[in-house]
Amino acid sequence: MALSFRTDAYIDGRWRQGARRFQVYNPATQDVIAEVPDLGATETEEAVAAAHAAFPAWAAKPAKERAAIMRAWFDLMIADLDRLGRLISLEGGKPIAEAKGEAAYGAAFVEWFGEEAKRAYGRTIPTTTATRRYVTIKQPIGVCAAITPWNFPMAMITRKAGPALAAGNTIVLKPPHQTPLTALALAELAEKAGVPKGVFNVVTTTDAAAAGKVLCESPLVRKFSFTGSTAIGKKLGAACVGSTVKRISLELGGNAPLLIFADADLDLAVKGAIASKFRNAGQTCVCANRILVEDAVYDAFSQKLADAVSKLKVGPGDQAGVDIGPLIDGKAIEKVERMVAEALAAGATALTGGTKHPAGAQFYTPTVLANVTRDMRVNTEEIFGPVAPLIRFKSEDEAVSIANSTEFGLAAYFFTKDVNRAWRVAERIEAGMVSVNDGIFSNEVIPFGGIKESGLGREGGVEGLEEYMETKFVNFGGFA
Ligand code: SIN
Repeated sequence: MALSFRTDAYIDGRWRQGARRFQVYNPATQDVIAEVPDLGATETEEAVAAAHAAFPAWAAKPAKERAAIMRAWFDLMIADLDRLGRLISLEGGKPIAEAKGEAAYGAAFVEWFGEEAKRAYGRTIPTTTATRRYVTIKQPIGVCAAITPWNFPMAMITRKAGPALAAGNTIVLKPPHQTPLTALALAELAEKAGVPKGVFNVVTTTDAAAAGKVLCESPLVRKFSFTGSTAIGKKLGAACVGSTVKRISLELGGNAPLLIFADADLDLAVKGAIASKFRNAGQTCVCANRILVEDAVYDAFSQKLADAVSKLKVGPGDQAGVDIGPLIDGKAIEKVERMVAEALAAGATALTGGTKHPAGAQFYTPTVLANVTRDMRVNTEEIFGPVAPLIRFKSEDEAVSIANSTEFGLAAYFFTKDVNRAWRVAERIEAGMVSVNDGIFSNEVIPFGGIKESGLGREGGVEGLEEYMETKFVNFGGFA
């Protein structure tokens, strides 16, 4: 069945064509899928003004009413899961089953935060003085702005828009130029669900700098959230704070270690390593970037992993049974090729893969690299591709030291059957999220986020709602 989707931007409850348009590509074929408006600073300002005008009425609605609208939005997403999954796959390249998984994951944030809004409790604080009573109340922040990445065209939007709207804020979203169609599909469903005009706005553009400047510097925007690279996040964060002291949430780069201890269940570890490393062809911020393996099981684990990885099926996301889709663009392929070539030249060996894949210009063969050393870029930098570098360690201390030798601190994984070690290592690893004996952990109820240069704040869970609310303290004085 043909896939139908909106191709106009959505500002103040109206579908906007824009004077110029840009092309959206299928990363599997490089074919043009659609053209969408290439808006600029003026339209971004209009969207901010619309969100500002819509804020008082949306904020004044009881949480139960906002939750009912969000429930309708969620129900429409679930009813439309097939189309949303196909759209995510078409513009983002994910295998269709994985893309539908993302659609369900994305919808869950809208359900969870709509429900959680009803429990946005303040506190009563025992007084210090007989004549006073103290309370705190939770209030929305105001207009929120979000800049989202292409690797999760839907879930990274709802993980920000869900808590923003639930708490009574309005939002202006700038989706990535690679995957704007899923964002517009969400706007279409929001409109159908009865989200009032101006509450959810989508500005499509290739001019990220112009839109970003408005979103970071406008005094009408009070909260800014970004998911993307650490380098850009630092600049945007500085602009937000330096201009108008906005609240900020930053979900930035990672360099997740995955540790295999000698006492691990090796089959479970292979399953976990594949789930983590090869999710979205290695293009997630929480993908295991490097795999550290204890000396005693290095050879056995490497062989098992290489065997399993060599069986992964590569191809366009809409082809049956595909595990690994294309990388997002030519630059991504070039980066992976360069990093692997450098590692091989420096003494690493490819147990499987190590080259581009014949499925097309943007496909890379799932790769396992042995004999990787700590100085190689595949250990020190985020690969963002289907390449698993294996590094040998001899002790728990050494493993933790290698794992922590990075400026990043987003996710970390390890496999062990020793419960004492599990606690010890979970506490010692410098990461915002640690997963023991499991390669996948993301969902709507957990606080997702990093420490060190991987970001500020948490998305998802009760912590995710806090990011979109102010805590106001109120003193009642004058008691006799
Ligand atoms: C990301 O790559 O930024 C998000 C990954 C996830 O939500 O699991």
